[in-house]
Amino acid sequence: MNRHSFLKRSLLTAGGFTIGNALKGQAQAAPSSFSSTDKPLDALNIFELEQLAKERLPQMAYDYYRSGAWDETTLKANREAYEKYKIHYKVLVDVQNRDLSTTVFGHKVAFPILIAPTAFHKLAHPDGELATARAAVASNTLMSLSSLSTTLIEDVSVAANRNFWFQLYINKDRGFTRDLVGRATAAGAKALLVTVDTPLWGRRERDVRNGFHLPEGLSAINLIPSDKDGVKKGNSGAGLGQSFAWMLDATLQWKDLDWLASITNVPIVIKGVCRADDATKALSHGVKGVLVSNHGGRQMDSAPATIDVLAPIVDAVGDQLTVLMDGGIRRGTDAMKALAMGAKAVLVGRPVLWGLAAGGQPGVEKALALLRDELDLAMALSGCRTLKDLNRDLLR
Ligand code: GLV
Repeated sequence: MNRHSFLKRSLLTAGGFTIGNALKGQAQAAPSSFSSTDKPLDALNIFELEQLAKERLPQMAYDYYRSGAWDETTLKANREAYEKYKIHYKVLVDVQNRDLSTTVFGHKVAFPILIAPTAFHKLAHPDGELATARAAVASNTLMSLSSLSTTLIEDVSVAANRNFWFQLYINKDRGFTRDLVGRATAAGAKALLVTVDTPLWGRRERDVRNGFHLPEGLSAINLIPSDKDGVKKGNSGAGLGQSFAWMLDATLQWKDLDWLASITNVPIVIKGVCRADDATKALSHGVKGVLVSNHGGRQMDSAPATIDVLAPIVDAVGDQLTVLMDGGIRRGTDAMKALAMGAKAVLVGRPVLWGLAAGGQPGVEKALALLRDELDLAMALSGCRTLKDLNRDLLR
């Protein structure tokens, strides 16, 4: 059975679990088979890569990845907002030699486009997060691993050469959170991206309509609590609602970041900030970075586009915190605008998933290369040799 029919069949099979109910399931790898027709592809851009992914993914998986909350206005705004900013390019600059590299939390990357944390990569491809991690290494960039990974942190760490960031939901069980942080940092995580826009799950109506669930054999494997004997509990089908409630914490407050900072030396980045005053508050809570993000439009619908709130946040804290941004980046010019606005680097989520679904590791490499090359060309065409040349003077 090829990968596509495996996924289609699995998704149609009763079993697994529904995201609204649970984040537990059986810990088992999906079979890995990749046919020679799964080449990555002559896609000219991320939009074509998405089209290929759409053709290959079961509707439920494609909808899960693409969806936003409620009317998806923020999802759309994230994309459309880039149009408002025009790049006033400079001419007659020697741009023969260009360098897109930068250093984030001490780690050098070849270009400032990193992989955002996204859930359940084995829904996109049987190699799942391992393929994504290997692509990040091959591309000289950095992967952020989601808490909702379908692959063990420790295995991803090996594939990522121990260079990865870990996304965290601080859940109600602080003991479990502490253990998860311990596992991620022991595995080499170089930063913790703490998602702060998710006291509860946003309502994605496509998922509700589809009754989204993971296929049999896939699970949020790092979130399955160990029992007393250290044995991973499987998805018994019991207590699933409890499990879902357990992984988020609607009472989360700023003081909880102080607690997190007290249990780890790894830089903490808060992910999901859209206001300068919140970014400023972060300064006194042990945080080293802010990821300007609205969760890809999947949480609070009607939230502003990230590119529209980036500048005030950079102005408020950019000299003290590392400011990153994600949201709607599909072109090198989108990344360039965020960098010119003051982001140290940007992160991309869905483009990586489209590449993964379309072509496994080479597909992710393709997605990253498309964006990197577009950024490189856009910089050259604008008279910019290095990231230092990107500033707001370019944007009107
Ligand atoms: C997980 O973070 C999701 O947005 O589904």
